[in-house]
Amino acid sequence: MSERVIVITGGASGLGKCCAKTFAAQGDTVAIVDINPQLSQQTVEEIEREGGKAAFFIGDITSKSASLELLNGIIEKFGDVSVLVNCAGVYPRKPILEIEDADWELECAVNIRGTYNMMAVVVKHFLATSTGADVNGRIVNVASVDAFKAHPQNAHYAATKAAVVSLTKSFAAEFASSQILINGVAPAGIATDRAKELGFLPELTAASPLGRAAEPQDITDVIIFLAGDKNRYMTGETTIVSGGYIYA
Ligand SMILES: NC(=O)c1ccc[n+]([C@@H]2O[C@H](COP(=O)([O-])OP(=O)(O)OC[C@H]3O[C@@H](n4cnc5c(N)ncnc54)[C@H](O)[C@@H]3O)[C@@H](O)[C@H]2O)c1
Repeated sequence: MSERVIVITGGASGLGKCCAKTFAAQGDTVAIVDINPQLSQQTVEEIEREGGKAAFFIGDITSKSASLELLNGIIEKFGDVSVLVNCAGVYPRKPILEIEDADWELECAVNIRGTYNMMAVVVKHFLATSTGADVNGRIVNVASVDAFKAHPQNAHYAATKAAVVSLTKSFAAEFASSQILINGVAPAGIATDRAKELGFLPELTAASPLGRAAEPQDITDVIIFLAGDKNRYMTGETTIVSGGYIYA
């Protein structure tokens, strides 16, 4: 695979970190976009120790102007962007009748607006730099199986992830004629540090036909496919990776 620059939002930790390390291990240059400087630095240091190439860019994707500044910083450092993985997301749980305005604002700002902002600035870059190649850029959005299945334990989160699935389709339809491939992945529970800390994995494991939560690498490998040269004909499609939970 020739030198690609992969932008990963939420790349400092959890699933995004696993993606960052995996892309870097296969020779891609990784640009981590995150609000957490300490974890971002740790992840970049790990990648560099393992011989990979990465840098981090601190900023808040809930702001469109900040998203544009982040992109400009990445282009200034690495010259181009080939792939965007929108992995940043928040998922604090609230009982369905207790979701307050501030809860909605946080979930919508990060999960929906942040995903939109980064897609918008990166797609503009893809359009401006299009070379007429067969594929002029790829985007992978991290949704959740909760977009497709009732999730009363975290209804506002599930609604934002349904919005991510919708945005994936709208962007894909709008830019298919420009040969930009925009897809999503919809995981069930992933054993990330954050998910472990929030304590809901035992409940998800019990509901999983495979009897376990996903490891970050299980989901990363699907993202790698969607973001890679072997994906030539999928666009607008959100792939459910739930260990059978969607059917259970
Ligand atoms: N862990 C699970 O069980 C699970 C299941 C399905 C889907 N997901 C989705 O996977 C993604 C990653 O989840 P995770 O468990 O790795 O979480 P995580 O908390 O480990 O990682 C999320 C990262 O996003 C960053 N971030 C948060 N707000 C940001 C902002 N405004 N701007 C920039 N960066 C920001 C955080 O600093 C963090 O590094 C999320 O979108 C989540 O909704 C997770």
